[in-house]
Amino acid sequence: MKKVAVLGFGIVGSGVVEVITESSFKHKTGKELSVKAILDLREFPDSPFAGIITNDFEKIINDDEIDIVVETMGGLSPAFDFTLRALNAGKSVVTSNKELVAKKGAQLLKAARDNNVCYLFEASVGGGIPIIRPLGNCLAANEIKEIMGILNGTTNYILTQMIKNGETFEDALKDAQAKGYAERNPAADIEGVDTCRKIAILSALSYGKQIDSDAIPTEGITKITLKDVEYAESIGYAVKLIGRSKMSGGKIYAKVSPMLLPKSHPLSGVEDVFNAILVHGSATGEVMFYGKGAGKLPTASAVVADCIDIVKHNGTGAPFWEDGGVLTDVSGDPVRYYFRIKADDHLRAENGVRAVFGKVRRIESGDDETVFITPPESETDFAEKAAKLEALFGAQNILGKIQVAD
Ligand code: HSE
Repeated sequence: MKKVAVLGFGIVGSGVVEVITESSFKHKTGKELSVKAILDLREFPDSPFAGIITNDFEKIINDDEIDIVVETMGGLSPAFDFTLRALNAGKSVVTSNKELVAKKGAQLLKAARDNNVCYLFEASVGGGIPIIRPLGNCLAANEIKEIMGILNGTTNYILTQMIKNGETFEDALKDAQAKGYAERNPAADIEGVDTCRKIAILSALSYGKQIDSDAIPTEGITKITLKDVEYAESIGYAVKLIGRSKMSGGKIYAKVSPMLLPKSHPLSGVEDVFNAILVHGSATGEVMFYGKGAGKLPTASAVVADCIDIVKHNGTGAPFWEDGGVLTDVSGDPVRYYFRIKADDHLRAENGVRAVFGKVRRIESGDDETVFITPPESETDFAEKAAKLEALFGAQNILGKIQVAD
């Protein structure tokens, strides 16, 4: 019997306890898993697990029977301290905490290696989708050229509800919170921070170096309106929040932003809470991973799979990376943007747009708006021209600006 302690009895933590308690893993591992303790500051008098809930981490760290600590608390503190102490005490740690993995992964992986235990985090990216282990093991023979993904279930759910059911942004967000998809502070979802942490983890795993996630250019979906989504749809594009990274010249390019994807793009049909990750390997070409990216049981499934892996393989093949990744400047890359401008005088607007960007692709629009896609040019040149457009029409009249995928 392998005994587990679960730190944090929230949505994911309670899902982990449910999956472990209601399943038998003996036929897969030769041993059963059981939950010996649950750490939470709150009290749960009506829970069937009330008897094993404690608010004292010392009881867990000093319990020699506990081999695996599951950290589903989220945040950096006290999760970092508890994780490091558990690893140094010879216990393996499994987590769904993407903030901690993105920020402190290199240090915690080293601590795990030094102590001959594991630090596993399959649940930190893509919820129930197997992506960390396939990327680290099954695709290990490849040089990873590029990763592009829809990595946040909440925002994908919101964008889908807006276009499919005409819901407002606010109502769709409330729905996502009620379904247990959103972070405790949903700003992390809608501002793109959650996607940013996940692309930082996938990049570290693929390129072997941790990058500073705070330095990744990140934009969320708060400025996207139903009208933008509808205009995109009218020309055969879907709006998605995309995390993207690639390695070039020893430096890592990473970016998070909403994007217009043509309907022919493999990520454009990914809807609701589903996530998908497209990985371009040097030998495999494109490989895509797809599944539920958030929610109690899909995420718990990934956490418990890591626990089973520890029991089965004792952490052989555990992922590893080091500090020292360098981000590249994205400003030289060619980009195209969708623009929506409030302009009562169509002719004047068209002349102004043409004077700044040259020939653009017009999108059929209402009388008081001019909507178009710019020709490709570097981020730097584009930023200069976008500033000119703002000066011409007034910043308050630039109603939408979204990058277009090629
Ligand atoms: N809030 C996250 C999401 C949870 O919506 O994707 C899973 O990481």
